[in-house]
Amino acid sequence: MALLRGLLMRAFGRPQGALGRLGGMIMARVNRDCAAWVVGRLAIEPNDAVLEVGFGPGVGISLAAVAAAKVAGVDPSPEMLAQAKARNADAIQSGGVDLRLGTADKLPFADHAFDKAFAINSMQVWPDTGAGLREVRRVLRRGGRIALGFTPHSGQKKDGLTDTLQAAGFAFPKLEETDAFFCALATRP
Ligand SMILES: C[S@@+](CC[C@H](N)C(=O)[O-])C[C@H]1O[C@@H](n2cnc3c(N)ncnc32)[C@H](O)[C@@H]1O
Repeated sequence: MALLRGLLMRAFGRPQGALGRLGGMIMARVNRDCAAWVVGRLAIEPNDAVLEVGFGPGVGISLAAVAAAKVAGVDPSPEMLAQAKARNADAIQSGGVDLRLGTADKLPFADHAFDKAFAINSMQVWPDTGAGLREVRRVLRRGGRIALGFTPHSGQKKDGLTDTLQAAGFAFPKLEETDAFFCALATRP
């Protein structure tokens, strides 16, 4: 069981090496519809600055970049940074996308830098969920929105998600669902 968990972490949780590269290719296909739905829930406006935490192969970044003025992202996996950079090469070149190695609990951005923030199938693998969400709160402007999206295979439970957001200092948390995905949304007070 521990071996399987380790392999899944290398492929998807914190992708590393050949298994991580393969995991990134799989996630880019399998999670695309969820990413499109979650990005849509944020109602991104043309002047918005948007953050994705745990961008993986960078599909969510590319979808957000179509709608936003600026998109930034952090992910601790060098393999995922390489895939996301390749997928968003033009937008990086033109200055619309900024991708960095990093973790949710120590975001390399200034206070109130973003209008919207999201994470897809990522929060369940952060070592300290509360610390990560408080960091997202710090970098969002007042009135900014957060969306935490998940597919069923993420392993994330729906129950308690809105409480987790409230405990991290977010307001008006709510859960939205489709047949296939769910997403917790809230506002930075
Ligand atoms: C299951 S993948 C999801 C990737 C992508 N969001 C998607 O939907 O395809 C989880 C991602 O979270 C990243 N991650 C792991 N620990 C993290 C942390 N502490 N902070 C931010 N991202 C993290 C991983 O490197 C990986 O890219």
